[in-house]
This record gives sequence, structure tokens and C-alpha cells, in this order.
Amino acid sequence: MPVAKQFEISPAEGKLGVLLVGLGAVSTTFIAGVEAIKKGFAQPIGSLTQMGTVRLGKRTENRVPLIKDFVPLAQLKDLVFGAWDIFPDSAYDAALNAGVLEKELLGQLKEPLRKIKPMKAVFDQNYVKRLSGTNVKTGKNKFELAQQLIDEIAEWKRKNKCSRLVMIWAASTEIFLKTHAVHKTIDSFEQAMRDNHKAIAPSMIYAYAALKSGIPFANGAPNLTVDIPALMTLADKNKLGICGKDFKTGQTLMKTIIAPGLKSRMLGLHGWYSTNILGNRDGEVLDDPDSFKTKEESKLSVLEYILQPEVYPTLYKDFSHVVRINYYPPRGDNKEGWDNIDIFGWLGYPMQIKIDFLCRDSILAAPIVLDLALFLDLAQRAGMKGVQEWLSFYFKSPQTAPGLYPEHDIFIQLMKLKNTLRHLRGEDLITHLGLEYYD
Ligand SMILES: NC(=O)c1ccc[n+]([C@@H]2O[C@H](COP(=O)([O-])OP(=O)(O)OC[C@H]3O[C@@H](n4cnc5c(N)ncnc54)[C@H](O)[C@@H]3O)[C@@H](O)[C@H]2O)c1
Repeated sequence: MPVAKQFEISPAEGKLGVLLVGLGAVSTTFIAGVEAIKKGFAQPIGSLTQMGTVRLGKRTENRVPLIKDFVPLAQLKDLVFGAWDIFPDSAYDAALNAGVLEKELLGQLKEPLRKIKPMKAVFDQNYVKRLSGTNVKTGKNKFELAQQLIDEIAEWKRKNKCSRLVMIWAASTEIFLKTHAVHKTIDSFEQAMRDNHKAIAPSMIYAYAALKSGIPFANGAPNLTVDIPALMTLADKNKLGICGKDFKTGQTLMKTIIAPGLKSRMLGLHGWYSTNILGNRDGEVLDDPDSFKTKEESKLSVLEYILQPEVYPTLYKDFSHVVRINYYPPRGDNKEGWDNIDIFGWLGYPMQIKIDFLCRDSILAAPIVLDLALFLDLAQRAGMKGVQEWLSFYFKSPQTAPGLYPEHDIFIQLMKLKNTLRHLRGEDLITHLGLEYYD
């Protein structure tokens, strides 16, 4: 069989700067984890780029390299971290405050973590009502704030001697915003920034600054951010990758693992009730109804897309789906997510599934941040631009091309991701047909 054309992928030479918006629980757990792995204290558990493999060719060929040996990813030793936050705490103090990792482990990582001091944030309390901080930029209007970010990024890159950068939004969830007329074109977006228009949220200002600076951007929260025509056009025009929204961890991760399984066996669903208790700052922000609305939209859409009630009305028409998040401080980052799933089987007989997931939100999110940073950088070096749908695997609300419905089934998402890697390297795509083994 002729080998498909390989993409030209420029090598991962020099340092990769990972710019994090928000230096909270997720970001500090990610940075501390990478530093711990670099020192040999820990393994990169949960990271597909570090631990995953990819099968190549036929099952009889026994070619199963590690993903990191198959595609040229940046190495952990070459990562440099920068961040913005509304609080001036270093990554060390912020990690202590987040309370995810043990003090003893953080003590061993004090030196690299102390060095990471957040730059002043672009922040407006109208978009995150439960927070206020002092480490915040001031400027005449939103356009000027974007210019400040652009200058700061260039200076940071120079000072840290980075050859490439990626930016990831891991800051608090903003209030729910819908696409507005000013989001339509780059011109209307820029004018709206000059007019301090309320349809331009701080997350959009960071994304704009990244795309103007030639940096791919990933959105880890459910905010609209880069999912608007103006910024999608800008990404395309500047040949940059973008992806989002909302890291897929915890309860939604479970949903996208279990729902495809129920559907594969044609089991019906009467309802799925999900509730959570969590006590970290994210939980506090999500206690505000406007921020929760953004999260709720992101969490609710998953089942509809996976179960396709319009295709399978007998099984999935009109099922109830409820999602609740309750802020409960004693739990900190150690969330508890309960699911009650009312299903039905043969002859319509009802059954129930109960899940009690004692999870650790940031422990699940940190490897996602690492993989996104490395894969976005790979995509950039391979000349892939615009929405990176192959990274849907990592998101609750995957961003797609306009008009295209998102794929939520985690197994399809993983196949898509691995086939994209095979495609980049000119390997045959795996279809799982396998008839040739029986010829
Ligand atoms: N942990 C998870 O499993 C998970 C999953 C999906 C999505 N997320 C999202 O990731 C984000 C981060 O989660 P977290 O648990 O680290 O929250 P966190 O509250 O610990 O950290 C967020 C940080 O962002 C800062 N911030 C807020 N607005 C900012 C701005 N405009 N500029 C710079 N900094 C700003 C806050 O001060 C805070 O330190 C949240 O939006 C959360 O909803 C987390």
C-alpha cells in the first residue's frame, strides 16, 4: 500500500513557553506536577502524551510506539511557565493556598515554584462576580489592555529565551455570554474593544493578544472566549491553532465514558441526575448563578449529542437531565460527584446505576493542560491552523467548525486524536475493519 504523504513537522527545538491565564488550583497542580516529574519524584499519570501509545499498521506487526516517540513533541525539560492572576501570590503560595498537593511535596519544589510570579491580570469583576484582586492592569480601554498584553508577551518570550509559546485559559469561569454582532469580524471586534463594549470579556482580550502574537490558544473553561467568528478568523489568518472549551474532568468525563456504552447496547434512558459538592475557589465562583449558567450549558449538552434522541426516540426521547454544583467549603478541591442514572432494558424494565465519584478535580485537569500544551505546539509546527477538533478528547464542549455538531463520545474522540497523529506521520489510519486477518 502506498504510504500517505507525511506532514512537514519542524523540530521541537529550544524552549516552549506555556502561558497560563489564572494561577489557581489547576495551573499550580500542573506546574508542580511537571517539576516533580522532571526531578524524578513522580510519574506523568493521566497524560496521554507521556504514557499513551499508538498502534501502527496491522495487529500482527507489533508496532506500538509511545506517542511521544512517534511524533516530535516538546520535552518536559524544555517547558517554561508564565502566568497571569489577579492575586500576586507566587506559584508556590498559590499551590499551598489551593490545597491540592501535600505541603511536603510542595516543599521539595519550592525553588522552581517560587520563581513563578503572576503578571498583572486583565480583569473585570462584572465577568467573575465572586472575585476581586489587586494584581490587575489598568488601561484606557480594552484595546489598550490587549496591546499591554501583546507587549508583555513579547518581553516575556525574550527574557525566558523561548522559541515558541502556547497560551491556555485556566482562569475562573466567566458569566454566560452569547455571540454578539460585534464578535462577527476582526474589525468589529477591535472597534468594540476600543468602545469598551460589554460583549468583550477579559478572556477574549487574552485570546486576541495570543493570536495577534502568533500563539495558539486553548480554552479550559466554558467561557465563549475564542469560540466567536472574529477570533476564529484571526486564528485562520495568522495560521494558529485554537481549541476549547472546558476541560473534561470529573462527572462529565464519566458521562462520556458511560453514555456511549449504554447506547452501544441500545439501553434506554429515563433520566440522569448529577450533583456535586466542591469547596475550592472554582466552586465559589460557580456558586454565582451567572458563572454557573456558563458551566451548566457546557455540562448539559453532552448527553443529547451522544444519545441522539432524534435518531433513537424510543430509547432517548425526553429523558430528564439535571446538573447541580453545590459550593461546600470543607471539601476543598476533593469534589464528590453523585450520579443517579435511570435506565431501561428489554421489555422496558427499569434499572438504576449509582455513581459516587470521589475525585480530585485538579489532579484530573493537570495532565490535560500538559497534553494540550504539547499537542497545540505540535499542531503549530505541523502547520495545522484554526479549530483543532482532534483535541475534542480533552473538552466538555468541543469547539468545531461552524455548523458541525461536536463529537462527545470519548472513544470516538480518542480514535480521532490517534488517527490525526497517524495522518501527520503518513501512517495508515486504523479503521478496525480487520477482514484481512481472515483472508
Ligand atoms: N479542575 C477541573 O477539573 C476543571 C475542569 C474543567 C474546567 N475547569 C476550569 O478551569 C478553570 C480553573 O480552575 P481552578 O480549579 O484552577 O480554579 P481556581 O479558582 O483555583 O483558579 C482560577 C484562577 O484564575 C484567576 N483569575 C480569574 N480571572 C482572571 C483573569 N481575568 N486573569 C487572570 N487570572 C484570573 C483567579 O484569581 C484564580 O486564581 C475554571 O474556570 C474551571 O471552571 C476546571
